[in-house]
Amino acid sequence: MIEKIKVYGKQKANGKVHISGAKNAALPLLAAALLSSDGMRLKNVPPLTDVTTMLALLENLGITYQVFKDSHYANSIKLKTDALENFTAPYEIVKKMRASALVLGPLLSRLGRCRVSLPGGCAIGVRPIDLHLKGMEALGATIELRDGYVHASAPEGLRGAEFTFPIVTVTGTENVVMAAVLANGTTVLKNAAREPEVVDLANCLNKMGANISGHGTETVVIHGVTSLRSTEHTVVPDRIEAGTYAIAAGITNGRIDLLGGDFRKLLPSFLDKMELAGLSFSSIDNGLRVESSGKILPIDVDTEPFPGYPTDLQAQCMAMLCLADGKSNIRENIWENRFMHVAELMRMGADISVAGTHAQVRGVKHLTAAPVMATDLRASFSLILAALAADGDTVIDRVYHLDRGYCCVKEKFADCGIAIERIK
Ligand code: EPZ
Repeated sequence: MIEKIKVYGKQKANGKVHISGAKNAALPLLAAALLSSDGMRLKNVPPLTDVTTMLALLENLGITYQVFKDSHYANSIKLKTDALENFTAPYEIVKKMRASALVLGPLLSRLGRCRVSLPGGCAIGVRPIDLHLKGMEALGATIELRDGYVHASAPEGLRGAEFTFPIVTVTGTENVVMAAVLANGTTVLKNAAREPEVVDLANCLNKMGANISGHGTETVVIHGVTSLRSTEHTVVPDRIEAGTYAIAAGITNGRIDLLGGDFRKLLPSFLDKMELAGLSFSSIDNGLRVESSGKILPIDVDTEPFPGYPTDLQAQCMAMLCLADGKSNIRENIWENRFMHVAELMRMGADISVAGTHAQVRGVKHLTAAPVMATDLRASFSLILAALAADGDTVIDRVYHLDRGYCCVKEKFADCGIAIERIK
């Protein structure tokens, strides 16, 4: 398997990037296919290994599907869902991707029972699903944890209820919404996640015949219906991919046109923070132009649930702030261990100190190429960004992390005049 990426230093971005469909929308949308026996067609699906993993999980449950390549950065997927044969999400698949837990709600709704492996932890934290399970119990499910699996059942079906999430959880909100759409009665979810990917899922479910309102706000109301029908849905653009390439323009003192979405709406806090850091944005046909001012200014960033600054853009921003004219502060308020990229950036000459979930970044004049290792999905791209600005050519190992959430990086960068190579 090609495990490494070689990034040539001192490059300047100048071009355009077609933004793919959002990984974090495609995954719950694929799970939602389980809710109807009439099938589903998804468009603008990104060709990512996490999508492949979710499709393997659905196939294990009895779903069959066809993939149609619409472009090098987007697929359409036609799913046939009338013959569910199994209700188990096995550890072998779930351990690869925590989002596998998203089949819990749909299977409980469709079959009245399911057996889902508890997710292993992962690099950025323990990542429990206790709030998913509390939400299912509020809807009347019986939940038992045994031999590393969640055994959930609702033989008489689920019933609507009121449930308040103690903390905002994106897939927790998505899972409980998918459990509530076929429940008997009305469900009111409070302190729900407001991410665009949650909204995209609710919009798709409503097209399937669900009755959901309030999505995108902190209170979501679901009136249960008796069944859902097939639909065709186009996955919302990936705001995290868009933000990642915007930072590529910033760190290389360049300019990139982000094509394929309304990124002002999808990235409100991020764009405000990037403007303070010295980037400028202007609307263009079908996207947003990002231009560097030639300087990177120090800023303070606190990651928050949407519409706050996205945690999934924290590592990328840190890479750019390593070269700012001054001292920046980053507080990671969502995940307890999402600074693994710090040690790798410091190997490249960054000056960062970490205390708990607070990182202080003191800007330096230069970064220098060094052999580094990707530790998780977003960290892998932060190392690429640092390497683009560094003196010398950097080799990044364990690049399989990258392929989970970013497709066609070499080709997309080539459209911006940036060269990277995949090497053995
Ligand atoms: C989603 O993960 C995203 N993944 C993550 O993106 C993203 O970082 C995260 O939301 C926050 O925005 C997908 O949508 C597939 P959470 P999710 O539940 O839903 C705690 C990426 O890089 N928590 O919102 O798993 C949890 O430990 C990935 O694309 C509980 O304690 O995150 C965390 O501290 C990484 N109990 C916080 O809540 C629960 O039952 C937020 O987690 C659930 C969550």
